[in-house]
Amino acid sequence: MKIAIIGGTGGQGLGIAIRFVQAGEDVIIGSRTIEKAQAAVDKIKDLLEQDDFPNLKAAENSDAASEAELMVLTVPLAAQTSTCKSIKEGAAGKIVIDATGPLESAIGGSPTRCLYLPEGAAAERSQKVLPDSKLICGFNNISSGALMNFNEPIDCDCLIAGDDQEAKVTVAKLIDKLPGVQTVDCGPLERAQIIEKITPLLIGLNIKKTCKDAGIRITGIDPECKLY
Ligand SMILES: NC(=O)c1ccc[n+]([C@@H]2O[C@H](COP(=O)([O-])OP(=O)(O)OC[C@H]3O[C@@H](n4cnc5c(N)ncnc54)[C@H](OP(=O)(O)O)[C@@H]3O)[C@@H](O)[C@H]2O)c1
Repeated sequence: MKIAIIGGTGGQGLGIAIRFVQAGEDVIIGSRTIEKAQAAVDKIKDLLEQDDFPNLKAAENSDAASEAELMVLTVPLAAQTSTCKSIKEGAAGKIVIDATGPLESAIGGSPTRCLYLPEGAAAERSQKVLPDSKLICGFNNISSGALMNFNEPIDCDCLIAGDDQEAKVTVAKLIDKLPGVQTVDCGPLERAQIIEKITPLLIGLNIKKTCKDAGIRITGIDPECKLY
């Protein structure tokens, strides 16, 4: 599948890009500038010690969204709305996985505290700006550290939420390709309000050094209730 990582030059986007490249997917690193996107592509080549990557390229965010079949949004909360507006045309009719964390640090506060948005979840806010896209909350609870530790499996589940059942099946099949990850459907998009609040909890555990790259696992899932 052709996947664009919108804002793919930061820690979270780069980690997701590497994992999808390793899984054999076609990845487009998106950025506000083509130069920064290309630098991120070069960095991945260096990290993976491989020069020739036919399944990896760079593009500006709007071009990346237009070319991709599915995209992952990995920008800070403060950049979420403007970035969504910049990809609106290209993202129409497509799945957008939103990893945005509504952290208090967006307004100068602590990354271990949540911001309460009038729209509900950050992913619900993206859905309002992108009414023609299929928003799925995802990747919120997998740290960039765990993603970037790309020689090891990821010791974390991926909790997702969204209103389009078919889109969630597509996303679950894709994310389940990442070693160690189990995708857990948490229900409609409004459940993103809960999923996103786990992130500052995990960040707090990392800061206290209770954990390194803290993650979350859901146990007791009935196989009959899996998405596919
Ligand atoms: N890092 C983690 O461990 C982690 C874990 C779970 C969820 N998340 C969430 O994932 C998202 C990305 O996290 P991150 O740590 O990768 O963030 P980041 O490094 O701060 O930013 C990612 C990219 O967003 C773009 N960006 C930054 N400020 C912008 C602005 N004002 N306007 C437009 N674009 C801007 C930049 O791309 P260009 O300059 O190339 O355009 C930047 O490289 C956040 O919402 C975060 O809460 C992160």
